Amino acid sequence: MKINGKTKVCAVIGDPVDHSLSPVMHNAAFKELGLNIVYVAFSVKTEGLEDAILGAKSLGLLGLNVTMPHKHAIIQYLDETDSTAKAIGAVNTILNERGRLFGYNTDGKGVMIALKENRIDSEEKKMLLLGAGGAAKAIAFQATQETDELVILNRTEEKAKQLAELLNKTFGTKVTGRTLSVEVLKEELGNTDVLVNATSVGMSPDVNASPVPADLLHSGLCVMDIIYNPLETKFLKDAKIVGAKVVSGLEMLLYQGAFAFEIWTNCPAPVDVMKKVALSKLAEQGVRP
Ligand code: ATR
Repeated sequence: MKINGKTKVCAVIGDPVDHSLSPVMHNAAFKELGLNIVYVAFSVKTEGLEDAILGAKSLGLLGLNVTMPHKHAIIQYLDETDSTAKAIGAVNTILNERGRLFGYNTDGKGVMIALKENRIDSEEKKMLLLGAGGAAKAIAFQATQETDELVILNRTEEKAKQLAELLNKTFGTKVTGRTLSVEVLKEELGNTDVLVNATSVGMSPDVNASPVPADLLHSGLCVMDIIYNPLETKFLKDAKIVGAKVVSGLEMLLYQGAFAFEIWTNCPAPVDVMKKVALSKLAEQGVRP
């Protein structure tokens, strides 16, 4: 593409950002659609966040992705935050509309769209969500609106219960929070349809760990991991062996990115192109299917 006086800029801000897959995914997508937009990565320290956001406003950046450690702190600098992002307390996407900054959280939607795109219907189904950290919270907020039953299991039981309580207060649902243990997994997994790992168990370098013992998995499950390094975690390998349908963490990354792309451009994201470049970037970083 030709950069000229009309080129718009999107960026990811965080610390660190040098391994982010977002620049390659979004630049490939802008190019594919012939859009005059470029995407760059800015390393921003906590003490520089306010200046960075003021700079983004005055330079007229079109959009931002926000990653760790700024997802929470950024909210105070935004003009508006959508209800989901506000409830979660975390923003990962910003749209700059004529100097007004709008915050969104596309992580939970990313997971639910990834499931749908992989022909996994979560409506009228039971979902078991493992984890109650930042990522799990975003997923739980979306899942509770799109599933019949949601059960959250977490190593620290109190966090699972608190998250369930927050969801029930917000949506009037009956989400349950329990401890992540073999006994509870045995009780819950039998009638579970969709099982999502949002804990960090199994992430590189701890590649031989899984949050669920292999012998508890069954062929009636649709299993998703949000970890994408490795691309196929032990959890997903074990699920595949028993004949469960599996969705990798790359899909969450991809669809949360696709959703952000659509917020900035109002155009459907070219997901296949984004996936191809994300996979080659991961391969460069030594992460292979
Ligand atoms: P993120 O923002 O990626 O969700 P996080 O907020 O630190 O990261 O959450 C990490 C999640 O992985 C938590 O649910 C954590 O459980 P605790 O709340 O008990 O800490 C879970 N987790 C991390 N290590 C774990 C382990 N060894 N076994 C089980 N769960 C683990």
